[in-house]
Amino acid sequence: MGIYRHHVLPWLIDRGMRNAAMTRYRRPIPAQATGRVLELGVGAGLNLPHYGPDVTRLFALEPAGSLLGKAAALAGILPFPVTLLGSGAEAIPLETGSIDTVVTTWTLCSVGNLEAGLAEVRRVLRPDGQLLFLEHGRSPDPGVARRQDRLEPAIHLVAGCHPNRSIDTAIEQAGFRFASIERQYLKGPRFIAYHFTGVAKPR
Ligand SMILES: C[S@@+](CC[C@H](N)C(=O)[O-])C[C@H]1O[C@@H](n2cnc3c(N)ncnc32)[C@H](O)[C@@H]1O
Repeated sequence: MGIYRHHVLPWLIDRGMRNAAMTRYRRPIPAQATGRVLELGVGAGLNLPHYGPDVTRLFALEPAGSLLGKAAALAGILPFPVTLLGSGAEAIPLETGSIDTVVTTWTLCSVGNLEAGLAEVRRVLRPDGQLLFLEHGRSPDPGVARRQDRLEPAIHLVAGCHPNRSIDTAIEQAGFRFASIERQYLKGPRFIAYHFTGVAKPR
């Protein structure tokens, strides 16, 4: 399992996240970030080219060392300082209230303990900060949700992802309100295509 988890899975994630449709969906999310930014599960750094001029510093958090190495290569060419954090969202090594924007794209499905991870996001955000998210999760259609529940063990084993999480509920329960949210199917098989996109603010 070690070789799969530490080498094959990061390679699969890197390959799987690079396609034109996903680039189109992801581009507007980091573009809205301002100030001191934390990206959760930065992966191979595919969001990095899309950060705008209002970012002053980026903390790139990623537990998979081989992916963090790829992100590091891109980080060097950015016009603001980047600090790589080799840890999971459940224990973010940053001061309370020190971050203006948290960015998460296709990461919350993979965080082992989602409740703990979102509590940490809430802790590190300033009271007037923002959480920008683009995440797939549990469909409101009972038939699709049943399929997600059935496939979850296999998808988690192969891709490290829980496709059946109610991401919007989890964000609200962590102490956020939505400034905006879109819930819709994006392109792809319906059991992984239902997405939540928006901005959440600490309550
Ligand atoms: C599907 S990939 C998405 C990568 C990247 N966010 C993107 O948009 O290309 C899921 C990412 O979550 C990371 N991850 C897994 N467990 C995590 C955790 N506990 N905390 C933060 N990130 C985690 C994985 O290593 C992987 O980089």
